[in-house]
Amino acid sequence: MAGFKAWAALSTAGAALAAGNAITADGTNFTMTAEGMSYLFHVDPETLDLTHDHFGGPTDDFIAPANVDPNGWVTGLSNVRREFPDIGRSDFRLPAIHITHGDGSTVTALLYESHEVMDGKPEIPGLPATFGNSDDVSTLQVKLYDNYSDIGAMLSYSVFPKSNAIARSFQITNNCSETIHIERGSSFSIDLPNIEDLEMLELAGDWANERHRVRHPIRYGETGFRSTTGYTSHLHNNFFALMPSTTTESAGEAWGFGLIWTGSFQAMAEKFSNGFVRVLLGLNPLHSSIPVQPGETFYSPEAVGIYSSKGLNEMSQSFHRLYRNNLSRSNKTFSTRPVLLNSWEGVYNDYNASTIERIARQSAELGISLFVNDDGWFGKTPYARVNDTAGLGDWTPNPDRFPNGFANYIDTATGYSVANASSRDLQFGLWFEPEMVNPNSTLYHEHPDWAMHSNNYPRTLTRNQLVLNVGLPEVQEFIINSVSEILDMGNISYIKWDNNRGMHEIATPAADYNYMLGMYNVINNLTTRYPDILWEGCASGGGRFDAGLLHYWPQSWTSDNNDAVDRLSIQMGTSLAYPLSSMGCHVGEVPYGLTDRSTSIWYRAHVALMCGSFGFELDPAHLSPDEEAAIPGILEAWEKVNPIVISGTFYRLAIPDETNWPAVQFISEDGKTVVVFAFMQKPMVKPAAPPLKMQGLDPAARYSSDGEVFAGSYSGATLMNAGVNLQWGTTEFQSMMFFLYKE
Ligand SMILES: *[C@@H]1O[C@H](CO)[C@@H](O)[C@H](O)[C@H]1NC(C)=O
Ligand SMILES: *[C@@H]1O[C@H](CO)[C@@H](O)[C@H](O)[C@H]1NC(C)=O
Ligand SMILES: *[C@@H]1O[C@H](CO)[C@@H](O)[C@H](O)[C@H]1NC(C)=O
Ligand SMILES: *[C@@H]1O[C@H](CO)[C@@H](O)[C@H](O)[C@H]1NC(C)=O
Ligand SMILES: *[C@@H]1O[C@H](CO)[C@@H](O)[C@H](O)[C@H]1NC(C)=O
Ligand SMILES: *[C@@H]1O[C@H](CO)[C@@H](O)[C@H](O)[C@H]1NC(C)=O
Ligand SMILES: *[C@@H]1O[C@H](CO)[C@@H](O)[C@H](O)[C@H]1NC(C)=O
Ligand SMILES: *[C@@H]1O[C@H](CO)[C@@H](O)[C@H](O)[C@H]1NC(C)=O
Ligand SMILES: *[C@@H]1O[C@H](CO)[C@@H](O)[C@H](O)[C@H]1NC(C)=O
Ligand SMILES: *[C@@H]1O[C@H](CO)[C@@H](O)[C@H](O)[C@H]1NC(C)=O
Ligand SMILES: *[C@@H]1O[C@H](CO)[C@@H](O)[C@H](O)[C@H]1NC(C)=O
Repeated sequence: MAGFKAWAALSTAGAALAAGNAITADGTNFTMTAEGMSYLFHVDPETLDLTHDHFGGPTDDFIAPANVDPNGWVTGLSNVRREFPDIGRSDFRLPAIHITHGDGSTVTALLYESHEVMDGKPEIPGLPATFGNSDDVSTLQVKLYDNYSDIGAMLSYSVFPKSNAIARSFQITNNCSETIHIERGSSFSIDLPNIEDLEMLELAGDWANERHRVRHPIRYGETGFRSTTGYTSHLHNNFFALMPSTTTESAGEAWGFGLIWTGSFQAMAEKFSNGFVRVLLGLNPLHSSIPVQPGETFYSPEAVGIYSSKGLNEMSQSFHRLYRNNLSRSNKTFSTRPVLLNSWEGVYNDYNASTIERIARQSAELGISLFVNDDGWFGKTPYARVNDTAGLGDWTPNPDRFPNGFANYIDTATGYSVANASSRDLQFGLWFEPEMVNPNSTLYHEHPDWAMHSNNYPRTLTRNQLVLNVGLPEVQEFIINSVSEILDMGNISYIKWDNNRGMHEIATPAADYNYMLGMYNVINNLTTRYPDILWEGCASGGGRFDAGLLHYWPQSWTSDNNDAVDRLSIQMGTSLAYPLSSMGCHVGEVPYGLTDRSTSIWYRAHVALMCGSFGFELDPAHLSPDEEAAIPGILEAWEKVNPIVISGTFYRLAIPDETNWPAVQFISEDGKTVVVFAFMQKPMVKPAAPPLKMQGLDPAARYSSDGEVFAGSYSGATLMNAGVNLQWGTTEFQSMMFFLYKE
């Protein structure tokens, strides 16, 4: 036990002035203030434990805690609302931090040592995190020491005043002489008071069925979910909201929590006997047990907590603002994205050079600016990627498919000029799945040990492939080099980075954390080296739609389900936490393969146009004359709407889970343009469609309609309080899009 100076070492209290006193430390009473939120905690002078006081609407004072009967088994810290609970010391609830010492024991006593308040926000080494300059964000760091061992901890809190957000993370430093293990680590940990009718809203689903809203009461005991897939997964997203049962899209309190992480995770709300609700969001304990060697420091992923007093829409808008301004570091985050055509659903892996060149040429003729060659371009006989049984890992173009050379093919494609854009050549994009390997590959034969495996247990195949252990430095080097070689081969403007299976034989629990550090290193390297490329994440659709990867690239493929009716629900669910500008959405062919459903080209376009990255995913040769005739109008609509989707404010006006007439709205950043997408799923004899009421307008201003759907000029008050009555016809799956301009 080395000399830990105790509680006398209070550092100088300070306030981060540049950020408008966002953080004040009054002795060891800490107040963090955003535009519409306060977060308060203090150091208990007797126990030196960090005690949570408030996370909610603006407050000015510390109030006395709830009086809880101290008798029975539940005593001491069990009845206190805590900031960073460890194991032992009278708390029966789940801990935020659980450490195994070198001797196998697991009790710790992390006590307040000192704190520091600073402008700006330090980076977290090797991990994605929010950022901001010193005018926008300030940070409180609290050092803790273990009173009985040489383990130290540091908690970091950063306040983003405009987003009503707190970003939190922690570090554990091992100053002991033996290795310790992090068994459990929650990046966000907070004890809410007894909120009697508290509910949880989470995003559950599966492949082609991602991120459906599921809302249920918090019961006594544990209410939560986790991913054990090694990745974020389609099954559960690493986001959830808590709110009283009365909270709606536009009214009531809501707390949103999001983890900036792509590995396995756990989200938990534990309602205890005293009614307090412990909220934990962080690593999945099943995939933790992370060794920290003597002298080393462990860094947790970062988590974000957001408070809204105006319902779920405002909570989502705060997430969108934070993630666009202070998480996604790509300089394309605020750029309109080119309309693209992706070859996957048009031809899958079945094509040759002349088919794929034809599709590229037809894309240009249709006025589409970016052609994306999906899977099927790499691997050599006998491992040519002509179907999904071979080739992953062999990132060299297939010489049989491209007999004139791949560079030549890229030149040909980028030589086509885009119709009605005389000065613009077609851009070329390419698909990769760099973290994977087929046993049918040269790579696997040379490096079978690079695939994730556990001793001599069988290596479970999914989609005929295995996961490379990206935690290994040699695998990181391999991926960086093989992707770079292709990118240096021609003028490539876009990469779709796919990942089509979960992890099975994870040799040690910590392998998932190590993998993520390696993967972030690779993606950081490539996105830094090729900043002009538009990078899009993908994982069998939306299996890794998370804030971790959105740090590095501006967009992610939302779902492999391109049925516009299903997509509407998936996109609305995704919008709870993620900006529409970060979603990739395409018009597919009909009848749609997965659902056998047909919708009009305009319904499909309207659903996809509400996303930042709009495109088509079909073979142009399959377009009907009517569909083809609609494309110029769709591109014209895209031209007008995309800048507003990229930087505007988004409102869910009515969600498809609750109505036959779902609708969404954007307001441009300058407040002058409003665009509404409205849908009618099935014609109904009765009842009539409810009026469509807009939100967020200036009640006193007048707005004139573009005349597409209805004519005239209306006050903001009328549009918000009376709404408009859209005139729907009698066929199923109708859609409308209209603009309103502030006068
Ligand atoms: C900190 O807050 C407590 C109430 O929780 C109060 O008793 C105490 O005086 C405060 N300390 C300072 C230095 O303001
Ligand atoms: C820290 O440990 C010492 C014994 O080493 C004990 O006397 C003291 O009460 C402990 N401090 C706290 C705050 O628990
Ligand atoms: C962070 O977000 C704020 C808005 O909340 C914005 O003003 C600021 O420029 C962002 N910081 C950076 C470094 O982009
Ligand atoms: C660990 O030990 C080093 C050297 O003795 C010391 O500088 C450092 O403050 C200690 N760290 C913690 C967390 O106690
Ligand atoms: C993004 O950064 C790259 C490299 O600094 C630069 O070439 C490019 O023009 C920037 N793009 C935008 C949209 O700012
Ligand atoms: C390429 O595929 C198309 C369509 O299957 C076929 O008509 C054509 O003959 C093929 N071309 C070559 C060179 O194999
Ligand atoms: C995949 O392609 C190989 C090589 O052409 C062929 O032998 C094999 O039958 C194909 N497998 C499937 C499942 O299509
Ligand atoms: C390897 O490829 C052959 C031929 O396509 C196929 O039959 C076999 O199933 C593949 N093996 C694996 C492990 O995918
Ligand atoms: C690469 O393509 C982009 C987009 O079409 C174009 O702006 C750029 O000039 C091209 N660069 C080269 C070196 O041809
Ligand atoms: C990317 O990785 C390569 C190969 O390891 C290395 O040479 C280069 O310095 C790295 N670049 C960045 C920006 O990390
Ligand atoms: C190109 O512009 C002409 C004239 O405005 C229009 O008739 C045609 O439909 C446009 N074509 C495309 C592919 O947008």
